[in-house]
Amino acid sequence: MRIAIVEGDGVGREVIPPARRILERLMPDAEFFDVEVGYGKWERTGSACTDEDIDSLKASDAILFGAVTTPPDPNYKSVLLRIRKELDLYANLRPVKGGGFDIMIVRENTEGLYSGIEEIGAERSTTLRVVTKAGSERIARYACGLAKGRKNSLVVGNKANVLKSDVLFRDTCLSVAKEEGVSANTAFIDALTLDVLMHPANYDVIVTTNIFGDILSDACGYLTGGLGMLPSANIGERHAFFEPVHGSAPDIAGKGIANPVAAIRSAAMLLAHLGRTKEAAAVDDAVDSVLASGIKTPDLGGSFSTDDVGEAVLERVKAVYN
Ligand code: NAD
Ligand code: IPM
Ligand code: MN
Repeated sequence: MRIAIVEGDGVGREVIPPARRILERLMPDAEFFDVEVGYGKWERTGSACTDEDIDSLKASDAILFGAVTTPPDPNYKSVLLRIRKELDLYANLRPVKGGGFDIMIVRENTEGLYSGIEEIGAERSTTLRVVTKAGSERIARYACGLAKGRKNSLVVGNKANVLKSDVLFRDTCLSVAKEEGVSANTAFIDALTLDVLMHPANYDVIVTTNIFGDILSDACGYLTGGLGMLPSANIGERHAFFEPVHGSAPDIAGKGIANPVAAIRSAAMLLAHLGRTKEAAAVDDAVDSVLASGIKTPDLGGSFSTDDVGEAVLERVKAVYN
């Protein structure tokens, strides 16, 4: 088993080391190797991600990734989008769990407004929103597969009233759900976002297009105590990539106070993906126990550091897997 570790930039460098230590403890049989990508590498070498970096990532069984900084410079291409595209990580799973609710956001991760087809001008700039039947079908199929193992309910977040490209997405998702025997409803993404925040217990699996899933998942940070809590998985046919939902958080980077929970729960998703479900559950339980004991970073109202939280989780994991 080969696990690629990408710390990236900013707090990625702080939250990944504790998550990695937990994985190393639980996967003594695995080989861990570092891949450097991101803005820091670009500043140092002139390249944020080389073809060799992509090959190294492809040569892993799973990837644990921190976060990268993306400057708004139109000439700087997002490393993360390149990786998602080149590894064809089409399903972005963003679980949001808390007292009384358990939501799985399934975000289409390769097309929509993230097609990369853009014309940038001083007077007029355009980005092409691409929705394909094949792309919609495969994400809907994935979402239905998850729904079947949960409450068998799917909501298709869309904006088909104004974006006619979403008619294809919505209708494809509905017909896949029908085929799969999953109960499905549709909702406009703006009203849906508010309703999810007000009544999270009413939701199970939500499938949506790329940018809507991006915004909805950050908004759901409101339900969990902030962005430092939300993990994610990016899954394709051949590759799997796990990362916190949050970015490089330049406002708190370097202070040692970033919440490592999102990264640690992403590591738990990696374990589950590789079939190590008991170990994954042990990590999630350890996180719950650490937070319940009041060992928290400042974003959650605590006064502990990133490493304090990481070490406390590792200690609890060791108590189960010594
Ligand atoms: P961000 O997610 O980095 O931060 C938003 C807010 O959440 C900030 O106030 C930050 O301090 C807080 N936050 C984020 N992670 C936290 C953690 N672990 N613990 C405590 N607080 C945390 O989003 P942003 O500020 O809009 O973007 C900053 C940079 O990150 C940009 O360059 C952006 O492009 C990039 N970005 C990268 C990714 C990624 O690599 N997956 C995701 C989003 C943004
Ligand atoms: C995320 C981020 C990325 C996205 C950016 C950094 C490309 O916001 O992973 O949520 O928009 O997908
Ligand atoms: Mn985002």
